[in-house]
Amino acid sequence: MPRFYRLGWASAGDSLDAATNLKYLITPGGSLQGRLRVPGDKSISHRSIMLSAIAEGTTHIRGFLEGADSLATLAAFREMGVEIQGPEHGELSVKGVGLRGLRQPERPLDMGNSGTAMRLLAGLLAGQRFPATLVGDASLSRRPMRRVTAPLTEMGAQVLTSEAGSAPLHIQPVSSLQGIDYHLPVASAQVKSCLMLAGLYAQGDTCITETAPTRDHTERMLTAFGYEVSRSGSRICLKGGGRLSSCDLEIPADISSAAFFMVGASIAHGSDILLESVGINPTRVGIINILRDMGANIDLTDKRMAGGEPVADIRVRSARLRGIRIPLDQVPLAIDEFPVIFVAAACADGETILTGAEELRVKESDRIQVMADGLKHLGIEAEPRADGIRILGGELGSTDGGDGIHAHSDHRIAMSFAIAGLRARGPVEVHDCANVETSFPGFARLAAQAGLQIEQEVV
Ligand code: S3P
Repeated sequence: MPRFYRLGWASAGDSLDAATNLKYLITPGGSLQGRLRVPGDKSISHRSIMLSAIAEGTTHIRGFLEGADSLATLAAFREMGVEIQGPEHGELSVKGVGLRGLRQPERPLDMGNSGTAMRLLAGLLAGQRFPATLVGDASLSRRPMRRVTAPLTEMGAQVLTSEAGSAPLHIQPVSSLQGIDYHLPVASAQVKSCLMLAGLYAQGDTCITETAPTRDHTERMLTAFGYEVSRSGSRICLKGGGRLSSCDLEIPADISSAAFFMVGASIAHGSDILLESVGINPTRVGIINILRDMGANIDLTDKRMAGGEPVADIRVRSARLRGIRIPLDQVPLAIDEFPVIFVAAACADGETILTGAEELRVKESDRIQVMADGLKHLGIEAEPRADGIRILGGELGSTDGGDGIHAHSDHRIAMSFAIAGLRARGPVEVHDCANVETSFPGFARLAAQAGLQIEQEVV
C-alpha cells in the first residue's frame, strides 16, 4: 500500500533509508519566493569531521550537514574512537585525538553513497598503524578507486581494491609513507585531498599539481587548523609530521544545494528568492558564472568570510535564459551542478553544448546518460556525447500516463527533475528519490515552502 505525504504536515522522506523507493510528484506551475537557507556544505562537512578528529583539542562546528553522506564520515570516526557530541541542529563538538590517536575499527567502515568519504578516508587511513576496510552502497561500489589507490601505492601504501578497481578497499598498515610529487591526471578535489591527507603521515613533502583548479576546502581548512600548506600556481605542497590545532568552524550553506533553487527561480516566471549565507568559494561558483552567461538574474549581497570560506546571500529572479557553449574552464567549478544546469538548458532559447565533462559519467550515476534519458522523456532534444551533451531548449512535457523519470538513486538527478516540474506542461513523476537524503535532507519540504508543488510517495 503506497503511503502519500502532502508536504507541510508530514516529515516522512526526511529520514528514509536509501533502500526505500521514494517518488516525487510535481504539479507544474507556480513560482519560487522568499528567503531560504539550504543545508550546510557537504564537502566542507566531511572535511570538518576528518580534520577535527585528528587535531589536538576540541573543535566546535556549526552549520554541519546532517545528511547521510557526512553522517557516514561522522560514524566512521566514532568507530575509530573519536568522541563526538551532536550533531544537533548542525552543531557538534569533536574531541580531537591527534594525528596518531585513531583506534582500529572493529568492523568495515561503511561510506554509504559517498565518494568523498571513501576517497578522502583512503588517504587518511593509508597512514595509520592499523588495518581498515572501506565499503559502500551499490553505486559507490561501482565507482573508480584506482585514481586514489595508484598514487597512494606510489607513496608506499598498501591498498587493495576489487578486480574492477573499486570498493571494498582493504588498507593495510605500512612502516612509513613517502611524500610524492604527483600531477593529477583528472581534475579531482577528492584525489588531491586524499593525497594531502596521506601526506600528513608521510616523510618529507607531498606536492600535487592540478590540471585545473578544483575545490580547495582541504587546503583552506588545514590552514585554519594551523597546518602549513603552500601553493605556487597550480602546485600545492605540505610536509608530513606536523600537528593540527582545534578551532571553531562555521560551515556555509552548500552552493550545490542552492543551485536547485537558483535554476528553479530562473526558470519559473515571477520568481524572486534570497538564498542565505551560501558558500561562494571561487572554486565552486561555476553555477553562478554559467547561469549568468545564460542570462540569469543573480545578485550577490553581503559578501563576507565565515570559517575561512567566502559566503554571500544570493538573490535570484526569473529571467529569459539562452543556450550557450559552456566554457571548458567552468567545468570543474560546476561539476556537481550539471544535472540542474541541463534543466536550465532545456528551458533556454537555443542550444547548449557541454564538452570536457566525461567525469559526469562516473558520479553517483552516469549523469550524462541519465539526464539525457529523463529530458528526452519530457520531449526535449538531448544528445549525450562521450564527454558532454547537446541540449536544445524547448517546452518540457509531462510524465502523465507514463512510467515516470528514473533518478537512478542519484540525489542530484532526483532534485533536478523535481525543479524541471516548475516549467512542465503537465505532472512530472520522479522515481527513486530516497538518496536526496545524502546531501539535502528536507529538500522537498523547503522546495514546497518556496512554492514548488511537490508531494512525496513512499512505495
Ligand atoms: C568533491 C569533489 C568532486 C565532487 C564531489 C565532492 C569533494 O568530486 O564531484 O561531489 O568534496 O572533494 P571529484 O573530485 O571526483 O571531482
